[in-house]
Amino acid sequence: DVQDRVRDLMSRMTLEEKVAQMAQFVGLEHMKKAEEDLSPEELHNNDALGFYPGLHSSDIAKMTEEGKIGSFLHVISAEEANKLQGLAMHSRLKIPLLIGIDAIHGNGLNYGATIYPTPIGVASTWEENLSYRVGEESAKEMRATGSHWAFTPNIDIARDARWGRVGETFGEDPYLVGNMGVEMIKGFQQGDFTGNEKVIACAKHLIGGGEPLNGTNASPLDLSMRSIREVHLPPYRRAVQEANVFSIMTAHNEVNGIPCHNSKEFMTDIVRDEYGFDGFYVSDWMDIERIHTLHGQAENLDDAFRSSVNNGMDMHMHGPKFSASIISAVREGIVPEARVNEACSKILEVKFRLGLFENPYVDEKKADEVVFNQQHQATSLEIARKSIVLLKNDGILPLKKGQHKKIFLTGPNADNETILGDWTWYQPQDRIITVKEGLEAVSKDKGFKLDYYNSGEVIGKTTDKAIKEAALRAAKADLAVVVVGENSMRWDWKNKTCGENTDRAHIDLPGRQLELIKAIKKTGTPVLAVLVNGRPIGEEWLENNVSGILEAWEPGTFGGQAITEILFGDVNPTAKLPITVPRTVGQVKLYYNHKPSHYFHKYKFTNKDPLYAFGYGLSYTKYTTDNIAVNKTSIKGDGTFTVSCDVSNIGKVDGEETVQVYIRDDYSSVTRPVKELKAYRKINLNAGETKSVTFDLSTQDLAFFNQEMEWGVEKGMFTIMVGSSSRDKDLKSVKLEVSETKKLELND
Ligand code: IFM
Repeated sequence: DVQDRVRDLMSRMTLEEKVAQMAQFVGLEHMKKAEEDLSPEELHNNDALGFYPGLHSSDIAKMTEEGKIGSFLHVISAEEANKLQGLAMHSRLKIPLLIGIDAIHGNGLNYGATIYPTPIGVASTWEENLSYRVGEESAKEMRATGSHWAFTPNIDIARDARWGRVGETFGEDPYLVGNMGVEMIKGFQQGDFTGNEKVIACAKHLIGGGEPLNGTNASPLDLSMRSIREVHLPPYRRAVQEANVFSIMTAHNEVNGIPCHNSKEFMTDIVRDEYGFDGFYVSDWMDIERIHTLHGQAENLDDAFRSSVNNGMDMHMHGPKFSASIISAVREGIVPEARVNEACSKILEVKFRLGLFENPYVDEKKADEVVFNQQHQATSLEIARKSIVLLKNDGILPLKKGQHKKIFLTGPNADNETILGDWTWYQPQDRIITVKEGLEAVSKDKGFKLDYYNSGEVIGKTTDKAIKEAALRAAKADLAVVVVGENSMRWDWKNKTCGENTDRAHIDLPGRQLELIKAIKKTGTPVLAVLVNGRPIGEEWLENNVSGILEAWEPGTFGGQAITEILFGDVNPTAKLPITVPRTVGQVKLYYNHKPSHYFHKYKFTNKDPLYAFGYGLSYTKYTTDNIAVNKTSIKGDGTFTVSCDVSNIGKVDGEETVQVYIRDDYSSVTRPVKELKAYRKINLNAGETKSVTFDLSTQDLAFFNQEMEWGVEKGMFTIMVGSSSRDKDLKSVKLEVSETKKLELND
């Protein structure tokens, strides 16, 4: 059995070899690319890039042969993976390498991979089985190209629209994020991840990175432990208990004064001991070092490495100084050898289960049979269709065949790779369908001529002349489609406006994009805005002035096709926002599950409501929700109840509606959010059809952490709200009484 194999191998390993399993380095191609692109000075002085003075790709290759490295990240092809495994086979014990990669929405750092919509788009489908499929299919593409470990799902709760990483999360709601995260992990790991088509997942980042104090990645979280327990931790508990996630990455940030990479409380006390986490922790890039260099919580690097490992860290991501420090710390009695043994045994367990000891290599010729296969393409397209949110429609949509003879298309994101989103690297042009290509493909069939004009980029290179030219051309068309938003292209460092480490102090359209749309609007030609972006865009002018708005997020390989199908009504939009869209940055942090006093006083000049609410999204038909009922008027402290309603499609086309159930504890010993999502279901409804829907809930769904920080339900009245979004006007409510106060086991 696997444990016997682990024990046997470890009995033959030296301390140095065990610590080597805890050391991860970046792939050689990645390093070589950096060595080519950057001057030695840039390479060595750039703390963010994390390349160390004197450490070159050739050193890393040598260390691999000597058995000093247990894991790699960002190995970008099957050839490179095989090459590295070959080096590892020269080492004394021939222990294969565990290779991890940020396969956030497909294995997009590899050339030619299927790129699915980014997680914020996946969450907009409100169909967690799609999240499962992204995991399952990405795992196959990863294994075919030699990677074994996905650094995802990102189950951060995104509460700040300024943060550039919102797009790689499932949004702001703990329940929805938990559902999406659990299913994606199950898809990746498929149980105990044995065999050669599965990988281990990595829940990240523990904890609270989605609520950074000033909106910038890695800035502190200073929040009550109750809110951390109720809002940020639940997806982690579920990832551990429901999906048996085998790795967790800690967060860049500190929480209430303690850097997460040095937090015994989160790594060991809560997640390992209380929740029962059975896998291993990996640090984020250079973040153990930053306990010393950034946070100033350790006086030197040695203290940082040792204290992090003692507090629960199992693997160090990239850098040459970790191993020697831990080896001498064990010899000096500063780090118990048992800690190293724990870490090493978990990492070896993964390698055995994945079958790497039987065969560390992949068949390079077979990769093409798996990568971007038809099934994966179909899934990517299906999710794209279901992830695009219709935010506004004055009646112009869906476009009718032959109605607009000339369509003018422009905007920085109409014909580029931005639709792929962050965490993708260069991709073959024939594996990207842009909006321009999507529209071109149907122009004959739909009876219009397409006039495309490249107006410039999201930031930079949009000249007065270009704006004038766009307006001139728009004036000659019957309809203008303007594709605007953000730029999260990894390789476009200077012009990126969104994505990892690209935060903004504003959430409006960057650059001259609004000017461009205003100039087009002035011509009198109706305007449709398509947003391609990784974080909420708060641009009220659009809502008030254009005819229709699609929030496409970053819809992946088939984005342009899916957008076109929605514009023409071949697909009836079903997506709903998994995150609140503020009107202005001044409203941040704006989330639907806020406390009652949040808006007791109003803003002068600015509406307190968001521009678009959590759970909101239009369709080409209309739905009603009636006959909301609860099957009991009163329940005990450990009781269950059923909420039911009738949902009707009262419009003229078939569609799918997502019915949402929210609860509120009316009076309680600790203040409670005005509403919290507890259940939802997406249902198919033909035009004119009505269906009854029921939801089974229990007092677990009404519980919270009380004044003693114990999980339980309090007696009193609760409001149960059902409807089509989190907006009050979209919800109908009933009351339910809980007759006793009861402490509960925190389990589901
Ligand atoms: O996995 C990522 C993490 O989310 C952010 N820092 C870099 C890691 C490896 O790429």
